[in-house]
Amino acid sequence: MRVLFVCLGNICRSPAAEGVFRAQAGDVHEIDSAGTAGWHVGKPPYGPMQAAAGARGIDLSGLRARQVGRADFDRFDLIIGMDDSNIADIERLRPAGSETDVRLFTDFAPETGMGEVPDPYYTRDFEGALDLIEAAARGLKQALEGRG
Ligand code: 4NP
Repeated sequence: MRVLFVCLGNICRSPAAEGVFRAQAGDVHEIDSAGTAGWHVGKPPYGPMQAAAGARGIDLSGLRARQVGRADFDRFDLIIGMDDSNIADIERLRPAGSETDVRLFTDFAPETGMGEVPDPYYTRDFEGALDLIEAAARGLKQALEGRG
């Protein structure tokens, strides 16, 4: 499966999801991340998120932000947004006839009771975001194992 994680800036949540899911399942799936906004294109992940992920053994330093586009609907089988506004922005890019799956990341972690991954750029809760991202990544891995 080719999986694209999408958030707003592509410097906090989606690069963390990319790094975590790559560590869990990168030998099986093709994984990337992107942002709905273009503000941070070319930049590495946000320093505090890199530090929090690094403390868990996840190295995000080589990632660079890019913006999601219509071509991503052909390049990926599954596009995963971090919140409802990501999903709305992604759906606005969907080419006519594309049946690419677009899902909320928290759908894969129903046990958490969370309906979105809160943005740590604003909440400053990098540990909470990583806990949720790790749980959703585990759920995603299990969900995809049945699909190959
Ligand atoms: P992200 O967090 O969507 O998880 O990458 C954000 C990072 C930066 C901004 C917004 C959200 N920003 O407004 O610059």
